[in-house]
Parts: sequence; C-alpha cells; structure tokens
Amino acid sequence: MVKIQLENVCYTYGPGTPFAKAALKNVSLSVEAGRITGIIGHTGSGKSTLVRMFNGLLSPDSGRVLLDGVDINADKKALSSVRCRVGLVMQYPEYQLFDETVEKDIAFGPRNMGLPPEEIAARVREAAGFTGLGEEILSKSPFDLSGGQKRRVAIAGILAMKPEVLVLDEPAAGLDPKGRREILGGLVRYRDTTGAAVVIVSHNMEDMASYADRIVVLRKAETAFEGAPAEVFARRRELEENGLDVPDAVRIADKLRERGVPVPEEICTVEEEAAYLSRLLSLQK
Ligand SMILES: Nc1ncnc2c1ncn2[C@@H]1O[C@H](COP(=O)(O)OP(=O)(O)OP(=O)(O)O)[C@@H](O)[C@H]1O
Ligand SMILES: [Mg+2]
Repeated sequence: MVKIQLENVCYTYGPGTPFAKAALKNVSLSVEAGRITGIIGHTGSGKSTLVRMFNGLLSPDSGRVLLDGVDINADKKALSSVRCRVGLVMQYPEYQLFDETVEKDIAFGPRNMGLPPEEIAARVREAAGFTGLGEEILSKSPFDLSGGQKRRVAIAGILAMKPEVLVLDEPAAGLDPKGRREILGGLVRYRDTTGAAVVIVSHNMEDMASYADRIVVLRKAETAFEGAPAEVFARRRELEENGLDVPDAVRIADKLRERGVPVPEEICTVEEEAAYLSRLLSLQK
C-alpha cells in the first residue's frame, strides 16, 4: 500500500531576487492508498506548486517528499522510476497532446516504460475505458477531437502508466456537469480498481464534497486545516475568509437548521440532503 508524505516542504520562486515569492511554507501532509485527497485553496495559495512536488518536477528548498518512506529527491537518477509510480496530470493537459493518433498518444508513457506491445495495447484500452473514450476514437488524430475529449486522452495517457499515486491539477475545469461527472467518476473507478492514492486539486466545492475522502485547505502557501469533507465544510466562516465557498448543500443545510430542521452536520452533497429531506417528509405524513 503506497504512501506519500510531504514533510515541512518549503519552496520559493525566484529566491534572492526582488521577485522572490514563497509558494510553500512548511507544508506537511500525507496521502494514502485507496483514498481521494482533495486540495482546495484560493488562487495563488500554492496548489499547483504543491502538486509538482509529488513526482519531483519541483524539489523542495527544504523539507522532504517521501514515497514509501524514501526521499524521492535524494537520488536524482531514481526520479524516472518515481515518475512511473506517481502520475501527474497538469492543468489543461490537452495542450500537451502531440502524437498522430489517440492510441499512440495514450501509449507514449507505457512505451517509455519498455512494456511489451500486447501489454501496451491492453493498457491503452483500459485507460481509455476509465476516461469514457470509445474504441472508435483510438485511431483518430487527437487534434480532431473536442476539448473535453482531448482532456480525456491526456488523462488516459497518465492512467495507462498505472500510477500508484495519481495527482491531477483541476482535471474537470471548464467541462460541463456531465463531462465533470464522467471524468471524476472514471477517477473513482481507477482508484477502486487499482487501490491507487488519488490527489485532486479543484476549485469546485460540490465536486470535492461528492468525490473526496479527505480535503486539505491551503492558505497563502501554508496548510490551513484538513479533514473529512463534512468537517472542512463545517468551518464555513474560515473558508469564506480565505475566499473559498462551501457547497450549496451546506449553505441550504445551514438555512434549514436556522429554521429548526435538524439536518445532520455530515450532509454536504445535494443527493444526501435530498435523501434526508424526503425521509423526513415521509415520516411526517
Ligand atoms: N513560475 C513562477 N515564478 C514566480 N512565481 C510563481 C511561479 N509560479 C507560481 N508563482 C507564484 O507562486 C504562488 C503560488 O502559485 P501556484 O500556481 O502554486 O498557486 P495555485 O494555488 O495553483 O493558484 P491557481 O488557483 O490560480 O491555479 C503565486 O503567488 C504565484 O504567483
Ligand atoms: Mg494552479
């Protein structure tokens, strides 16, 4: 069971220049297999900097990143094996597609891992399945696809490497609700099938409430607090002070409680709230 930990990680852009900007200050957190960890924070709070630490794309100025207890930056030659184990999907990954067919694009990672052709072909199909891409898409040029399809191809390219830790920076940004559900649902299936640790950065609190097992809140380069979604969203005032919203369901639950309806604190999705209210109404009949 994979475990990845950040220990007192600090990172400053442009150190020693007048433009020096501390993007991470003493950040410690731990991400575990089989869980979806959500990362939220106001724009500029350090989320994208943080995710680049997970696979060694950036290395801390001080502090350590431990993959199964081993400092990934201690031996730079070992970083390529770390990058097979920790898959990173950057923001708007669709701009990085380059191959002549979707199949080749998704196969790029597994090919670099030196896997046999039949294994590569099987992984491409499995990864396409997780992201909801049909067989008929594989022979197309990625440049003939819609924006949402391109995003799926880019994510499938990372899934095909079967990372034990999958880190995604805003994977559903800019997609319509159906596209969001399909992509995020695919990530849940990937986690359920492989037992991977999944880390998702998102600005969308409804998505975080629905999909994350745990949420870490970043505030101005530091971790502010973390917990289960219901615990995090119960700290509504602190979130709002940090420019963050709470899901609609939490806001509605607050209003209902003000009017005497005892909505349990752990409810933070619209589905749970609707189920609770319909149970309550049926009891009152
Ligand atoms: N390449 C860079 N050079 C200098 N400063 C940078 C660089 N990249 C990010 N920063 C600064 O570091 C801080 C953290 O940036 P980061 O991109 O990690 O934030 P973020 O939480 O991902 O923001 P967003 O929600 O807008 O994506 C910001 O103040 C940003 O301006
Ligand atoms: Mg960012």
